[in-house]
Amino acid sequence: MRVRNKYRKPTAFPCNAGSRCSMSAVVWSLVGFLLVLHMYSRFSNINAVNGDIQLRMSNHPLVHELEQVEKENIQIPHRKGKRSPRAAKRRPKRTTTLIDEFLDENSQLRHVFFPDMKTAVNPIKDSGNDSYHYHPGRIWLDTEGNPIQAHGGGMLYDERSNTYYWYGEYKDGPTYHAHKKGAARVDIIGVGCYSSKDLWTWKNEGIVLAAEETNETHDLHKSNVLERPKVIYNENTGKYVMWMHIDDANYTKAAVGIAISDYPTGPFDYLRSQRPHGYDSRDMTIFKDDDGVAYLIYSSEDNSELHIGPLTEDYLDVKPEMQRILVGQHREAPALFKYQGTYYMITSGCTGWAPNEALAHAAESIMGPWETMGNPCIGGNKMFRLATFFAQSTFVIPLPGIPGSYIFMADRWNPADLRDSRYVWLPLIVGGPADRPFEFNFGFPLWPRVSIYWHRKWRLPLSWRASK
Ligand code: DGJ
Repeated sequence: MRVRNKYRKPTAFPCNAGSRCSMSAVVWSLVGFLLVLHMYSRFSNINAVNGDIQLRMSNHPLVHELEQVEKENIQIPHRKGKRSPRAAKRRPKRTTTLIDEFLDENSQLRHVFFPDMKTAVNPIKDSGNDSYHYHPGRIWLDTEGNPIQAHGGGMLYDERSNTYYWYGEYKDGPTYHAHKKGAARVDIIGVGCYSSKDLWTWKNEGIVLAAEETNETHDLHKSNVLERPKVIYNENTGKYVMWMHIDDANYTKAAVGIAISDYPTGPFDYLRSQRPHGYDSRDMTIFKDDDGVAYLIYSSEDNSELHIGPLTEDYLDVKPEMQRILVGQHREAPALFKYQGTYYMITSGCTGWAPNEALAHAAESIMGPWETMGNPCIGGNKMFRLATFFAQSTFVIPLPGIPGSYIFMADRWNPADLRDSRYVWLPLIVGGPADRPFEFNFGFPLWPRVSIYWHRKWRLPLSWRASK
């Protein structure tokens, strides 16, 4: 896939040294050029969509607060104990990075990445200054006071009940390695579901798709892998349809599973697994477009590329059409959203449970071509931005009423104790200001910028909650 620059190359001045240009042509070209330049800078905050000129949402007062850039000044602690000169000669000291610290259970910075229970967000108790505030990385309690278990999750806004349902991996079991070199894992317990009206206070609706305890040949047998469940509603059949990554403990089955229910709170009936379009499929998501057509997007060919294809009308299967996208880019954890007719996607790199750099991609047609725009993370510090704030994308929630504004949902995995993985929810804004100085090449940006802003603490605008 060709990676197109965000900015177009400057067009060459049409008059070369050998040709004879009249003075007035030069002057008029210059005037025209300056006029275009003026218009561009004047209207650079304006997007033209479907012929309508609309104010970019970052000018919206509700969004200013979400765009505040918060810095982090975390120092890597010095290792205790001096090394002998001989040891230093034998093995030169490796520079410790923040990612090493993040992955080190005994790091002095552990509390920065995984704050303890004392700082937990408790919507039932937290009132006053802290109410409705997200604290990325802190333990988040449900209405019964238990840590929310909905990892690798997705959000369904159910229009029938005006309720948000958060589905995710219920991982409240011991972490172990099935094989010496295998990834850390937790037995399948099932898919957890939580409901909320305000996206902050979450009621546990229980396990809506449970593991199979005895039948070892069943996809959902506890020794297997169930990841990244996502649910959409089918208007034609009246069914809630769940798609998920189904695997064995070694991640060699590489399939998707499908389940259905009459209710958002389940129970879901597991139908089957399949390799979509005949290909291996690991991290995945589903996306329902405005016209009701839903798509499956999955990492394939050993995670080297993504595949995308429409689902059948009942959402229970894939249609034969499929496009390979981001070929050779090795991306996973796809999270899709759409704004003003353009499709966007955030993905992560492939480094197991360890954090890495997110990338934003955009496309005019969902089936592609998709173009890679760059790292959408803003704020924190360089390491925070290069590690997606020590988290991995899972879903992007649209915020109706504040066009261009979304919540970026990500998982801060704790590979030593996966049940203690945290949630990093941050504002994502399309069309926000660039974090780099504008390159003066007199070019035009091809896609509005996608920005995810780091905040230690933030909340949705009051007016958004009031409209619920
Ligand atoms: C990265 C994926 O995004 C996660 O869902 C999970 O499969 C881990 N790899 C396992 O190492």
